[in-house]
Amino acid sequence: MRGAAVAEAGTSEPQARRAGVGLRLPHLAEVATGAFAAGWFEVHPENFLANPHARELLQHIATRHAMSLHTVGLSVGSVGGLDRDHLARLCRLVAEIDPVLVSGHLAWSTHRGRYLNDLLPLPYTEESLRVVAAHVDEAQQALGRAYVLENPASYVGFADSTMTEVEFLAELVARTDCRLLCDVSNAYLSAANMGYDAYAYIDAFPAHAVAELHLGGFTREADDATPGGEVLIDTHAAAIAPPVWELFAHALRRFGARPTLIEWDNDIPAFSRLLVEAARADAVATGALTEARAHAVTR
Ligand SMILES: [Fe+2]
Repeated sequence: MRGAAVAEAGTSEPQARRAGVGLRLPHLAEVATGAFAAGWFEVHPENFLANPHARELLQHIATRHAMSLHTVGLSVGSVGGLDRDHLARLCRLVAEIDPVLVSGHLAWSTHRGRYLNDLLPLPYTEESLRVVAAHVDEAQQALGRAYVLENPASYVGFADSTMTEVEFLAELVARTDCRLLCDVSNAYLSAANMGYDAYAYIDAFPAHAVAELHLGGFTREADDATPGGEVLIDTHAAAIAPPVWELFAHALRRFGARPTLIEWDNDIPAFSRLLVEAARADAVATGALTEARAHAVTR
């Protein structure tokens, strides 16, 4: 779906000014009482589709806070096509919550009707582009808005790939008018795992299409098969690492202000700890954007 038919995914000022927090089920009840607030919240719709009580709490929270829906089950990279029942369930939740953004991963996670508990990689080829573009088109038609695609955390590449990940994402934007979610932590750990430059990746990323940024913690594991003897795993089980904060500042200097989300999905700490990460994201953003403005004035 192209042009005016796609609603503009927002980068509205309230979301851009303060970092949001990924809202997970352990914190749902206390956030619903109003005990904590963040700049905005992002949830995985799959946590609410078969949980009426959680869905009721979510609807209540959405009346007071900007929300984003980040699906982990749409599987735009599956050759067998989208699960239309799942897409319809997602559309019903979108109608209830009216989120600012609806996003998901450049990955596949279903095969012949079976759901795999992982986000699996694609070869970056013309054939894959046609598959993903058709599914993004279908999702956008159903949702009536732009779908926002996230760069994956990578551990392996494909000898068959004929383009880089950034070239693949840029071509998807050109073909579908989708928007992009730049997960800065994924950019950092993929570059470390695959042996390329994370800063060059951010510099090549299609800035005009970036609707949101993610920051999450990773875990280091020993791995004899890699040159550095370790692999970085996208566990979302730790604080954001210092080099990711530096790459985040670089991304903001290049992209400008963007809605930014803290993701923490395993070993989930108290909600107040998530707010500490969000406050740090706000401080890093303020510094980076002030620096970028000063640089622009003196040029
Ligand atoms: Fe992410």
